[in-house]
Amino acid sequence: MLSAPRPFLTAQQIRTRVEEMGVQITTDYPDGPIYLIAILKGAFIFMADLARAIKTPTRIEFIGISSYGRGKTSSGEVKVTKDLDVSIEGHHVLVVEDIIDSGVTLTYLVNLLKQRKPKSIRIATLLDKPDRRLRPVDVAYVGFQIPDEFVVGYGLDFAEDYRNLGDICVLENQ
Ligand code: PRP
Repeated sequence: MLSAPRPFLTAQQIRTRVEEMGVQITTDYPDGPIYLIAILKGAFIFMADLARAIKTPTRIEFIGISSYGRGKTSSGEVKVTKDLDVSIEGHHVLVVEDIIDSGVTLTYLVNLLKQRKPKSIRIATLLDKPDRRLRPVDVAYVGFQIPDEFVVGYGLDFAEDYRNLGDICVLENQ
């Protein structure tokens, strides 16, 4: 059985860090538009807050990815379930992710997007679990590095529950 969610990062801590990330990204990209590409579904809340913290003009896009065997096999099969609606050729792309775990999802996605000839491509993630990495990922912006705990809330789910929690919480086995 799983425990009740235990607060790990409060909504206020998250808000402060996301604002800082927005300031950094605004400084790094004086000229827009930046194509913010969030990976569904987990990144939807981070996307909404980060986009408003960035003062450089942005365009908002979403991509759907599903992965099988993530964290269990090194081959980790990944496929696109909802593709972009626009061309990113010649544009700055910032991939917006809620959490990086094995790195399989982002390794696949960045390789795919690079083939579409963006002017630049970087990654912004709210959470990073470096201990779980199977594939190296070059991440430009990290909100919080966290230990290998199962976290939910602020977009992250357990079996589709808890995405609407304002805090990020830990679920533990009891
Ligand atoms: C989670 C998360 C990342 C991915 C990271 O998505 O949102 O996209 O896993 O894991 P990785 O680094 O091991 O590839 P999930 O498949 O749980 O879907 P969701 O975003 O719809 O919750």
